[in-house]
Amino acid sequence: MSSPAIQVTDYSWKYLHSTTRAIKNIELIVQPGECLGLIGSNGSGKTTLCNSIDGLIPGQYHGIKEGRVEVFGTEVEEYRRGELQRTVGLVFSDPEAQFTAMTVEDELVFGMENLGLSISEINRRLEWVCDLADLSPLLDKPPYEISGGQKQRVALAAMLAMQPRVLILDEPTAMLDPVSRERVFAVLARLRKEREITMILIEHSLEHIIPLADRMVLLSNGRKLHEAPTRTFFSDLSLLRQEGIHLPGAVGFSGYLRESGATTDEPAISVEEAAQQARNLRGAAKGELS
Ligand SMILES: Nc1ncnc2c1ncn2[C@@H]1O[C@H](COP(=O)(O)OP(=O)(O)O)[C@@H](O)[C@H]1O
Ligand SMILES: [Mg+2]
Repeated sequence: MSSPAIQVTDYSWKYLHSTTRAIKNIELIVQPGECLGLIGSNGSGKTTLCNSIDGLIPGQYHGIKEGRVEVFGTEVEEYRRGELQRTVGLVFSDPEAQFTAMTVEDELVFGMENLGLSISEINRRLEWVCDLADLSPLLDKPPYEISGGQKQRVALAAMLAMQPRVLILDEPTAMLDPVSRERVFAVLARLRKEREITMILIEHSLEHIIPLADRMVLLSNGRKLHEAPTRTFFSDLSLLRQEGIHLPGAVGFSGYLRESGATTDEPAISVEEAAQQARNLRGAAKGELS
């Protein structure tokens, strides 16, 4: 059998000057093509875990590592220089920090040139990411002159143009207004439909993770507290409430119906599903009255 995209085995990490471990005995498997939603309160270890997969830890940070972190069957520390960065693409909250070029087009092309791709391949991919992220009108603009949401779509497109097998998104819309956030998630939704790419998505808004994620993991204080396929993940809301996770209205509503015994339906995870549960109840009540 081929190896998982990501396999984390009894992994712990302690930053050099910390007294406690930021990651504690984590086990995690992500299969190729799977999208994992990673949630947890601030400081729960989400960024540390992701940086352990993209090689920043222990590359850029000092500390004590225990256990193994493998990407496509190879321990991250055993990758040749640059090879892991080609395999795992990282997009984080601050798009500006990722820019180096003077125009959006150069920004999109830069990484591909570094990969040594042919001109025709660069053009092919440029066309694809421009269409995917709706960037054609921006190509001649300097990256620092466009809006925050546009910047993040450029950063995402520049990463996708290099076609990493794994994409890690660490709160990619944390600095964006709601409309720009929707547009970034629309790009990710299209990407999921068009390409097989392994994804880890860290995001506070469950509403945006749920439609994308196949599976969800809840971290708390460096430990994995809960893990399940996305719908099953919401079968029991007590852990999520305990961790202060903000539940989308539909999930909270459906949870309330289930907890109060009003329905035995499985958890609703969208507004449409919650509305259907409400209609079912109304239908049942009418039936009882007649
Ligand atoms: N560079 C660092 N040096 C020391 N401790 C750190 C560093 N970065 C993060 N931490 C600590 O590690 C823990 C996990 O942080 P982080 O991975 O950033 O969590 P999250 O992304 O879930 O907010 C926190 O207690 C944080 O203070
Ligand atoms: Mg973080």
